[in-house]
Amino acid sequence: MEDFLEQIKNDHRDFDHGKLEGFFGEEPFTLFNKWYKEAFDSKQLEPNAFVLATVDIQNRPSSRILYLKELFEDEFVFYTNYNSHKGQDLELNKNASMLFFWPGQGRQLRIEGVVQKVSDDISDAYFDSRPRGSKVGAWASNQSEILEERDVLENRVEEFASKFPNEVPRPPHWGGYKLKPRLVEFWQGRPSRLHDRIIFEFENDGWKVYRKNP
Ligand SMILES: Cc1cc2nc3c(=O)[nH]c(=O)nc-3n(C[C@H](O)[C@H](O)[C@H](O)COP(=O)(O)O)c2cc1C
Repeated sequence: MEDFLEQIKNDHRDFDHGKLEGFFGEEPFTLFNKWYKEAFDSKQLEPNAFVLATVDIQNRPSSRILYLKELFEDEFVFYTNYNSHKGQDLELNKNASMLFFWPGQGRQLRIEGVVQKVSDDISDAYFDSRPRGSKVGAWASNQSEILEERDVLENRVEEFASKFPNEVPRPPHWGGYKLKPRLVEFWQGRPSRLHDRIIFEFENDGWKVYRKNP
């Protein structure tokens, strides 16, 4: 076996970043904000990257990494192409999950819920804040569609760059989604694989909080 494969198999490191106790708030967003800030402050790579899983009409799941871009009071916002693979999944099945991994703190965060498109105003405002290259790219890339060759994309970039020499408007097929959670699980790695798992689940009109076995 290759050396590195052998090393990975025999790596039995423990998680030892402290415990998750005494934080059974009324709702999960306070703890999310605390964890998110700690991940950001610790300067680890890509603290706002998460895995978004969607399910298509034939019940086939797929996942990909996205950036969390905004936090509403009780919703998580990301931006993408509405015609993409994920966009088509979400059109037919609004259930999705988000997964963050913050290795610096030995933490995993699972979020499950339902998505909705954000308003045009909100998508416009975020689109406006992007660099010109990304704006042109949003027009040029038919995200998730087959691309015959790279040149086709490069030519479309040139085409849209000349079509919009100044302001680049937001393409109608590009914008944000907000995910409203019905379940949030905070996972704190602990020694001997005896991790803490604290789950917030929305039931009727309030959050139920419980632990799960690791
Ligand atoms: C670190 C990282 C961040 C990404 N952020 C986004 C994003 O915010 N929006 C997006 O549409 N794609 C993003 N992508 C690309 C997606 O992972 C994916 O390739 C793309 O959205 C097409 O996915 P789909 O065909 O499943 O719809 C990111 C990829 C990486 C590795």
